[in-house]
Amino acid sequence: MSIRLGGIFAGLLITAVLVLWSLVPGVYNFAFGPPAEKPASYAFYEHGEGPAGGFSFDGAFGKWDYAQLQRGYQIYKEVCRACHSLKFVSFRDLSELGYTDAEIDAEAATWTVPGIDPATGETTTRPGEPTDAFPLPFPNAIAAAAANNNAIPPDLSLMTKARHGGPNYVYSLLTGYGEPDPEKAKKIGFETPVGLYFNKHFPNVNIAMAPPLAIDGQVTYADGTEATIPQMATDVAAFLTWTAEPSLVERKQTGWFVLGFLLFATTLAFFSYKQIWAGMKPKKA
Ligand code: HEC
Repeated sequence: MSIRLGGIFAGLLITAVLVLWSLVPGVYNFAFGPPAEKPASYAFYEHGEGPAGGFSFDGAFGKWDYAQLQRGYQIYKEVCRACHSLKFVSFRDLSELGYTDAEIDAEAATWTVPGIDPATGETTTRPGEPTDAFPLPFPNAIAAAAANNNAIPPDLSLMTKARHGGPNYVYSLLTGYGEPDPEKAKKIGFETPVGLYFNKHFPNVNIAMAPPLAIDGQVTYADGTEATIPQMATDVAAFLTWTAEPSLVERKQTGWFVLGFLLFATTLAFFSYKQIWAGMKPKKA
């Protein structure tokens, strides 16, 4: 056997020993370690699949449904804003949802934002302007926690990016409230602590947010759409997808353009290859 082959075998042997050795602690723990303790809530969690028909922006040809985004904004404004901020979105961004400048001026003015008295420099409040971001519902985190059973309602601007499942998760969370199966709960000794609410799509199934969408017809939609709970949940989830990624539809369309360009460039490259090699005869063996 040549020295070279011997070297390769020695290397392979060392690698094999190292790989096996690295598995030892895992195998040991698997065999003798304590069983992984699953919390009782684990028995009730259900992965949410999102709205039945999906969203208009799903898939490679997805598009915004602007009427839906406007309805979603209405839900944020009439329901969620009591507790959740939307601090990375400004009133003027709403122009992308199809509102005119005059409508945005009027809309911004219906909100109260923090301001400064120009004469004394003291902090006051004033009506919003298009360049203002959506104001915070609570002055600080302590106030937010105190009002919500010690849980701080998170900012919603980027929520659909921050949670696995994105808009499907938000939809499922909003429609996932209910009661746990009483027999099963009794058997495993599961109880929702006082001040929390059972929600089968929240990872630990006890959430500090009271069901925000509780009855059909909770809001009256300006466009006449029937405001059922699933409808409201779909609309606000769509709106929060837009706040988190306003360029989502554009991104998908750019993708198609890039694919088309690559196809064109490949065809061009193929024909120039043909052209360049046209004069060469294949070598006879
Ligand atoms: C009464 C106050 C209140 C209202 C109104 C409210 N929420 Fe919440 N929300 C909370 C609190 C508190 C939490 C934190 C819950 C926790 O961590 O247990 C929360 C958490 C959330 C979460 C994050 C859940 C997670 O995975 O961490 C989402 C998403 C959410 N809310 C969406 C909404 C939407 C959409 C609306 C409007 C339809 C809304 N909320 C209305 C109080 C509220």
